[in-house]
Amino acid sequence: MLDYVSEKVQNEKRQGEAFAPSFGEVETCGKRFYIESYGCAMNFADSEIVASILNKEGFGATRNIEEADLILVNTCSIREKAEQTIRKRITEFRKLKKAKPGTLVGILGCMAERLKSQLLEEEKLVDIVVGPDAYRYLPNLIDEAESGQKAVNVLLSREETYADISPIRLNSNGVTAFVSIMRGCNNMCTFCVVPFTRGRERSRNATSIVNEAKELFENGYREVTLLGQNVDSYNYFDSAKNETISFANLLKNVASISPLLRVRFSTSHPKDITDDVLFAIKEYENICRYIHLPVQSGSTRILQLMNRTYTKEWYKAKIDRIRELIPECGISSDVIAGFCTEEEIDHQETLQIMEYSKYDLSYMYFYSERPGTLAEKRYEDDVPEEIKKKRLQEIVALQYKLSLESNQKDVGKTFTVLIENDSKKSDADWMGRSSQNKAIIFPKENFKFKKGDYVDVKVNACTKATLFGKIKLL
Ligand code: SAM
Ligand code: SF4
Ligand code: F3S
Repeated sequence: MLDYVSEKVQNEKRQGEAFAPSFGEVETCGKRFYIESYGCAMNFADSEIVASILNKEGFGATRNIEEADLILVNTCSIREKAEQTIRKRITEFRKLKKAKPGTLVGILGCMAERLKSQLLEEEKLVDIVVGPDAYRYLPNLIDEAESGQKAVNVLLSREETYADISPIRLNSNGVTAFVSIMRGCNNMCTFCVVPFTRGRERSRNATSIVNEAKELFENGYREVTLLGQNVDSYNYFDSAKNETISFANLLKNVASISPLLRVRFSTSHPKDITDDVLFAIKEYENICRYIHLPVQSGSTRILQLMNRTYTKEWYKAKIDRIRELIPECGISSDVIAGFCTEEEIDHQETLQIMEYSKYDLSYMYFYSERPGTLAEKRYEDDVPEEIKKKRLQEIVALQYKLSLESNQKDVGKTFTVLIENDSKKSDADWMGRSSQNKAIIFPKENFKFKKGDYVDVKVNACTKATLFGKIKLL
């Protein structure tokens, strides 16, 4: 159970998802690529950019790894376990390569950036290494690898946002899509490898974001999630209009495309989320009532060691403000158990802040020391593993209780649900989400609704993970 929890991926993406793009209509050079993605939503969004770059080069996509000429794995370094899983997977690719000589294996993303040429030169596990800011060079790197050269590009950029590349939607339900609004992170939380693997923060051209969302809407999509490691610090200077666009402005611009387009965003840093953002949510019904506000720890002492730059009291005040301005808002969090020097008293404060915040959902992990991070350099990873796991188990148990309580409060209420798909268990049922990001399952009955439609659903039962209901015609 702990592994599952510690490796759970944000935004409901699964680890190691193989993409099934459908661009049969595009002319190919006869070569096929297969791509598998790990990590956060930003990595999944990046794989869609990579698919677009390869597609322009005439590469077709395949879901069948055995028929691929190019096997790509978009990787994550956030915890040691994530890297171990990927290493195992790359070793399996080696076997496929033996069976089909000439197949190229490429590693992309954060692990490629962290380990640089190590997996190619020392371990000889891959043929191509590409960091997150170098995807435009992938076609050149493929040529180099084909001619037997070492194909590595892990240069980080201060400007690259891939703003002009129109992502090819992979494994899409045709209703919801990710839109990257920025890259990198300047925050330097001491536990975190992301500033080293993704580089400096930069905001994407606001017009290109709005245009991408518009195009999605015109193609039938009904929900976009604006992605960044710290969306509240989005800041773009539009020189043509001589104006600076803040995250709150961007949210409003995207929400103005159509009231039928839902807008979500992730992730918000508690130190940066502003009242302007909360007012934007309040003003626009189609900006979802849901905020992912990772707390990490409930102890001010630990938060300081983590360099989160807020205190327990500051965080609680943010929760209060959200509840005051948007009482119906869903709130979720990330929590780390067993950070350096954490004592039982700090852990109890984490449990207390979770109770206080009444999270609908949390992503929970035990601390995994990452090479090169500030915590690795400054502090000792001194909480024994069994204590980390015990504390994580308590955190998970508490979150399960909070999730169930939150869902039980929804029984009897009616929510407007955006239909995303058939329910996994039965194609007689729909699965959709409320504005608060809760999954709701309900029978299709004889109504002629389809994916992408909005429907009112009255909740009549729940588990800790799911609401169940019935269509209610108003
Ligand atoms: N930028 C977001 C933020 O500030 O919350 C998310 C960053 S990270 C992709 C997602 C989560 O992974 C973090 O919020 C944190 O809880 C967790 N995480 C990051 N580094 C970790 C580590 N070394 N050990 C355990 N969990 C970690
Ligand atoms: Fe990592 Fe902190 Fe940046 Fe999030 S805000 S990506 S946790 S450094
Ligand atoms: Fe992992 Fe990189 Fe995302 S380390 S969580 S894939 S930014």
